[in-house]
Amino acid sequence: MKIKTSEFVVSNTDYKKCPKPDLPELAFIGRSNVGKSSLINMLMQRKSLAKVSGRPGKTQLINHFLINKEWYLVDLPGYGFAKVSKKLKSKWGSMTQDYLTNRPNLACLCVLIDSRLEPQKIDLEFIDWLGEKGLPFMLIFTKADKQSPNKTASNVARFRKVLKKNWDELPPHFVTSSLNTAGRDDVINFIEEIIDSAKA
Ligand code: GTP
Ligand code: MG
Repeated sequence: MKIKTSEFVVSNTDYKKCPKPDLPELAFIGRSNVGKSSLINMLMQRKSLAKVSGRPGKTQLINHFLINKEWYLVDLPGYGFAKVSKKLKSKWGSMTQDYLTNRPNLACLCVLIDSRLEPQKIDLEFIDWLGEKGLPFMLIFTKADKQSPNKTASNVARFRKVLKKNWDELPPHFVTSSLNTAGRDDVINFIEEIIDSAKA
């Protein structure tokens, strides 16, 4: 898929106000600071389509972007951000959960995992929740430039091994770096398949 156009559409706190669900949609989620907004910019070949920050908790809204005038890409707030009050945390949590469970055009979710870390409880719990809800997803390991390919491979293998305890079949996974664009072609090709089959 060639990315011809990518434009910001709208930010919302309420899924009910999101654009009419008349196009296939792909959303990006993961722990705060895992690199969601950076990955979106890397995939779309745009410097600052989505807002990036070194401080966790940058993305606080449901952000819709229109890609090639044929599908929506959504940047979501991260989960597990420690430095906000409990009240805010649960507000973000319910905003995101309501969005995820009420969006009929959501074709697939990209769940981002930090490739530097060993399996994190919060990621595993979130993935189990997706399973309960029957939401389709792929795994995208981020920040692969930060360590050796061997280290990345062993962290990825460990994560998949832990998932296998609860899952018979594992979702597709990709290893990426927003810094050096590793993994871009594979992710974009897979997105193309998803969007094409959602349109059909
Ligand atoms: P929230 O919106 O707060 O949930 O964060 P996010 O998941 O959108 O992360 P964001 O893209 O804002 O990136 C967080 C930090 O990680 C920034 O300082 C990025 O520059 C850095 N970062 C993201 N991806 C990569 C990567 O692939 N490699 C390296 N080296 N740094 C990255
Ligand atoms: Mg962000």
